[in-house]
Amino acid sequence: MAARHSRVLHRSLGRTPPRAIGGDGVWLIAEDGRRILDGSGGAAVSCLGHQHPRVIEAISRQASKLAYAHTAFFTSQPAEELADRLVGHEPGGLAYAYLVSGGSEAVEASIKLARQYFIETDQPRRQRFIARRQSYHGNTLGALSAGGNAWRREPYMPLLSPAFSHVTAAFPYHEKRDDETEADFVARLAAELEAEFQRLGPGTVAAFIAEPVVGATAGCVPPPEGYFHAVREICDRHGALLILDEVMCGMGRTGTLHAWEQEGVTPDIQAIAKGLGGGYQPIGAMLASGRIIDAIRDGSGAFQHGHTYLAHPMACAAALEVQRIIDDDHLLDQVKVRGTQLERRLTERFGNHRHVGDIRGRGLFWAIELVADRAGRTPFDPDLKLSQRIKATALESGLGCYPAGGTADGRSGDHVLLAPPYISTPDDIDMIVDRLGRAVDDALKSIGQ
Ligand SMILES: Cc1ncc(COP(=O)(O)O)c(C=O)c1O
Repeated sequence: MAARHSRVLHRSLGRTPPRAIGGDGVWLIAEDGRRILDGSGGAAVSCLGHQHPRVIEAISRQASKLAYAHTAFFTSQPAEELADRLVGHEPGGLAYAYLVSGGSEAVEASIKLARQYFIETDQPRRQRFIARRQSYHGNTLGALSAGGNAWRREPYMPLLSPAFSHVTAAFPYHEKRDDETEADFVARLAAELEAEFQRLGPGTVAAFIAEPVVGATAGCVPPPEGYFHAVREICDRHGALLILDEVMCGMGRTGTLHAWEQEGVTPDIQAIAKGLGGGYQPIGAMLASGRIIDAIRDGSGAFQHGHTYLAHPMACAAALEVQRIIDDDHLLDQVKVRGTQLERRLTERFGNHRHVGDIRGRGLFWAIELVADRAGRTPFDPDLKLSQRIKATALESGLGCYPAGGTADGRSGDHVLLAPPYISTPDDIDMIVDRLGRAVDDALKSIGQ
């Protein structure tokens, strides 16, 4: 008889992951009873940890009233309240929320809205998008076209849109030259972006899209000082929009509700997800400036896009409660304080580690990058699959973290991303770093280091 295997198409066909059967604050509980400290909230999702009673209650309250009504016919109370909460005070001029079911959908909507805006304002030649290498914007084809991660793009290359081109990542550890100051580096990146506008023809560019703090593909890379100022100036000068993808780094993860608040710039369109609903329901949103929506209102009168599950009432109810809790419990202050602790502990544990080349991040969003040789910043051979080994050794030591490969150039390089829940205690942070330290050393030992 054939061995019984899962009918779920899991990420790996070679191995069915352990079953998660429960959650309890910062802990995930596996079927065998093991408790795993969720040091990365999955992929920077579970900002309130698991099974928060207020969110569970909000979901069940909404479920008992109305689970679903199609947005072609109805709006709902939770959708209206969530949008009011997100953009009622028009942060940075963002005045409308388009509520979708995840990050990729939020990015797709952002791209399409930018395109439609230029059609409606008589600039149909604007059909090009500039993005950055080593970025991640999602896995649907539009979002993947925007993304700059070589490994993720490669198999789908023939299907990806030629409307997207990519410039150098604002990634100091790998891209800044030793003889450059930070200001020189920013000036070089700005000159490259300007040159890309000129190459394409400035009147053909619809938008520049970037993650303010790069997440999954590069590992918590904050921008160099002044970078987004320079980007904003170039976009404005050429009449292009700035789309900021805060799917991973937004909604408080870096210590401010929006990561762009720390850059002194505002986007025209923003994508959010993950921390919006904290994993309690699948939800994302595109936030759009009033200027863009007004132009469409004065034109065709409708955003030409849509999905069946737009503004899903239960998802909106969950996200609304998550955002209320973040406010009520002053969790952004917690992110800052615990973030400082996390940085300090990571520096103590890994600052002199001979295979940790860089420790970087912001708020409760930090990564360490593993290197074979610190002086040369040389990555390990990707065939060693170091990041995957760390994932396994971490799980063995009771830690959930988010390691990934391809950090340096989409193929080689390894990092481990941490994104602890905002409710983490000082002891939780200490435990995350201790367990990560053990996991990294065990994984290195397994490759003879
Ligand atoms: C910056 C960024 N954009 C978009 C996405 C895609 O989001 P989702 O996986 O919810 O479709 C992600 C997911 O990791 C992300 O980190």
